[in-house]
Amino acid sequence: SPLTALDRTITLVGLMGVGKSTVGRRLAQRLGLPFADGDHVIEEAAGMTISEIFASRGEAEFRAGEARVMRRLLEGPPIVLATGGGAMMNPETRGLIKTRSISVWMKADLKVIADRVQRRDTRPLLRGRDPLTVLRELAETRYPIYGEADLTVEVGGGAHGQAVDAIHREL
Ligand code: S3P
Repeated sequence: SPLTALDRTITLVGLMGVGKSTVGRRLAQRLGLPFADGDHVIEEAAGMTISEIFASRGEAEFRAGEARVMRRLLEGPPIVLATGGGAMMNPETRGLIKTRSISVWMKADLKVIADRVQRRDTRPLLRGRDPLTVLRELAETRYPIYGEADLTVEVGGGAHGQAVDAIHREL
């Protein structure tokens, strides 16, 4: 029931472009919880975009910063937390997600996601490569890990409102 969710953080995980930030913000409004977007918190702290962090400091440093931000957010009061697509791959972050939150894997057809991410070029992992190829590679290593989430919610290619409803129903 939604009542059980109210006093716990809800963490949205899944591939880039699946709608974690947009859906998370709206879910938070509906549940009356604060919203945090991990990527955005990192950008604010660094004073740079994710792409700039990757370019100037490298992925390893981004991942270290991401893990620190995730720890701080997951150890804090209940929120709806949108994570970057790679956050759950860190074992320490994954442990915190599992012990400190209700986790939701937002899962969508890779072709649907590829169409979405093609319209923006803010994602360093794509780096001009074919999005569907990159997404297939990421799915292979990440789907077993995302699958450890408490809930898996299939989100279609339609309006984000439908995904908000679908997650809300499952909580
Ligand atoms: C990443 C996803 C991005 C961002 C960074 C790396 C990933 O977040 O954290 O570009 O490893 O999948 P989104 O999932 O919000 O695009």
